[in-house]
Amino acid sequence: MPSYVVTGSSRGLGLGFVQAISNDPTNAVFAVVRSKSSASQLLDFVAKHSHKNVHIIEANNKDAHALQNAADIVSKITGGTLDILINNSALMAHERGGLTLDAFPSPEILEDDLVLYFRTNAVGPIHTINAFLPLLLAGNTKKCIAISTTLGSPKVTNAADFGNYAGYGISKAALNLAIAKYACRFRDQGLLFLSINPGLVKTAQGPKEQVEAFYESRNKINREKNPDFEGAITVERSVGDILAFIDKATIADSGKFVHRDGRDGDSF
Ligand SMILES: NC(=O)c1ccc[n+]([C@@H]2O[C@H](COP(=O)([O-])OP(=O)(O)OC[C@H]3O[C@@H](n4cnc5c(N)ncnc54)[C@H](OP(=O)(O)O)[C@@H]3O)[C@@H](O)[C@H]2O)c1
Repeated sequence: MPSYVVTGSSRGLGLGFVQAISNDPTNAVFAVVRSKSSASQLLDFVAKHSHKNVHIIEANNKDAHALQNAADIVSKITGGTLDILINNSALMAHERGGLTLDAFPSPEILEDDLVLYFRTNAVGPIHTINAFLPLLLAGNTKKCIAISTTLGSPKVTNAADFGNYAGYGISKAALNLAIAKYACRFRDQGLLFLSINPGLVKTAQGPKEQVEAFYESRNKINREKNPDFEGAITVERSVGDILAFIDKATIADSGKFVHRDGRDGDSF
């Protein structure tokens, strides 16, 4: 029975991964959430799901002990193995998230925000990977994925002239490098590490018109820099493409940062 751990599965792409993967009754899915109390969409899905193959586990990715506990729970159910880990949880939206690095109200607030993004989006996945490493190494598939973003690419940042979303972008650049570090460490043991950009995906919450207007404005900004920009896509499409790429990725791809179709993630 192939086993998957998906972090940040309360909503958005994480929930989409859980839904798509659990559609196959032969898969076991471990849906890691920060708190069950704020995971109502996931709880509703699991309650109505026809297969009993989704296990919900609580762990904040800033808490290495909670993540170790999550790994112990998975290990008891799978017999000490895990096939695929999808590090999806992240802090994206923040009240000052759109600022450039020079525009913060004070150096202290700038530092607090940068550290918050770094802890959640880089250190959190590192704690998660470390907790699940023994299970992944004992698994059959041996794949560890991080969901990243082109905002973490210096090349795309320059090409697109994206001076804002600094804390988020810096934290994801760190994540991409962490994935490359793990790839170097575990290549000879056949454990694959990949960072994948999911595309601009419609996960924002709120009134429909407001959400549509937000994605239209993002599409416009992106198309000014890249007329071929595909536009915002659905969770189902992004998740389907990512899972297809994970399936065909081999150890030769380990350490790369790619778009969900496998293209170099440093290309716009
Ligand atoms: N949507 C896009 O256009 C886009 C584009 C590029 C990359 N990405 C990447 O794709 C991934 C998913 O994005 P999304 O749009 O689905 O995001 P989202 O809707 O904002 O969901 C983020 C998820 O991460 C969880 N999370 C946040 N902080 C956490 C923490 N400290 N510990 C554990 N879980 C935590 C959230 O849990 P709570 O519900 O408890 O807050 C939520 O489940 C992220 O890595 C993001 O950077 C998204």
